[in-house]
Amino acid sequence: MATQEGKDPGSVTTVRLNQNRPTPLRLIQFCLMFLVLGLGISIVSINMIRFFGVQNVGPVARSNIIFPCFEESDSIDKWIRPPSNLMHKMNDRELFWRASFVPRIKQYPIKRVPKIAFMFLTKGPLPLAPLWERFFKGHEGLYSIYVHPSPSYVADFTQSSVFYKRQIPSQVAQWGMMSMCDAERRLLANALLDISNERFVLLSESCIPLHNFSIIYRYITRSRYSFTGAFDDPGPYGRGRYNWNMQPEVTLEHWRKGSQWFEVNRRLAVSIIEDDIYYPKFRDFCRPGCYVDEHYFPTMLSIRFPQLLANRSLTWTDWSRGGAHPATFGKSDITNEFFERRFARQSCLYNNQPNNVCSLFARKFAPSALEPLLALSPKVLGF
Ligand SMILES: *[C@@H]1O[C@H](CO)[C@@H](O)[C@H](O)[C@H]1NC(C)=O
Ligand SMILES: *[C@@H]1O[C@H](CO)[C@@H](O)[C@H](O)[C@H]1NC(C)=O
Repeated sequence: MATQEGKDPGSVTTVRLNQNRPTPLRLIQFCLMFLVLGLGISIVSINMIRFFGVQNVGPVARSNIIFPCFEESDSIDKWIRPPSNLMHKMNDRELFWRASFVPRIKQYPIKRVPKIAFMFLTKGPLPLAPLWERFFKGHEGLYSIYVHPSPSYVADFTQSSVFYKRQIPSQVAQWGMMSMCDAERRLLANALLDISNERFVLLSESCIPLHNFSIIYRYITRSRYSFTGAFDDPGPYGRGRYNWNMQPEVTLEHWRKGSQWFEVNRRLAVSIIEDDIYYPKFRDFCRPGCYVDEHYFPTMLSIRFPQLLANRSLTWTDWSRGGAHPATFGKSDITNEFFERRFARQSCLYNNQPNNVCSLFARKFAPSALEPLLALSPKVLGF
């Protein structure tokens, strides 16, 4: 056909153009080449996802990833897939804005398996990582991990680690300062970008889990309340830290104190990162000796969502020795009795019923505790 058209006695330009036109055979070769190339790329990317991205891709998304290259642009996948690279280029303002997107239709059009976001606020390394690796093993798709280290720290986890490439863009965070709350909000905002994350737990490098994953997952996801410590302390370290300039947004009656180590659901997480009413009050009027990380979230959440709070933290800390810092446990502390004495006979309310599992995590544990913890964990921690 092309040659016939070429012979058309029309203009010279037509002839020239038509000479360059590919023959059907060439076209087929060309298409085949693209098909092979496309297939190759999909096979490689599927394998890459299997290899590197299993943790990122929940069970829901995984089943949809047959041909990611062809589907991506116009299917629902684009809106439900978690970010593949946590080291994004957004600044905090951009990140918080993006993270505040909330669907108005509450029913998800997909089978959404709720995940728990484990958010590690650390100075640098995670010395207890091997214990956590063991804890997470076999529960892919039910959790996601985020690490906010000091900005100068370069993580060196290997590809096989659950912490590999789970670091988020971080900034300096100082104890008792607003920069600490900023780091926590940054962790929440990054974790909110994955729509499967439903519950958000803040942890540190010195925290350990006290139960196996199944128990912790059930306990948190089936709770009607979020576990944020919040109590009204009439003393100098409670109400004594209140500043009258916070009126009328925050009154003395509103003022709460609680442990920094919170657990919140998705709704509360969004309310924390979108807050521009209470944030400036705490930033400007809760300065040392008002330790803002002990007051901001407990007070703000108690004002906005009192009926959604359990008013207690899931993270056990030993303050019995007195002083400004809690006890740290090392190698010689870790025995069977240590766990039996502290955690076997607890009692608290869980969904308004008495329960003897009250703490799911504990701190503070020194790096030297790792070895005995690994030895005892199958027996005393259940994993
Ligand atoms: C978790 O611990 C509970 C109680 O200790 C046990 O019944 C359950 O089998 C454990 N689950 C796994 C996955 O090990
Ligand atoms: C937590 O405290 C608030 C008051 O700040 C209260 O309204 C709420 O009922 C408490 N939550 C539970 C589970 O008792």
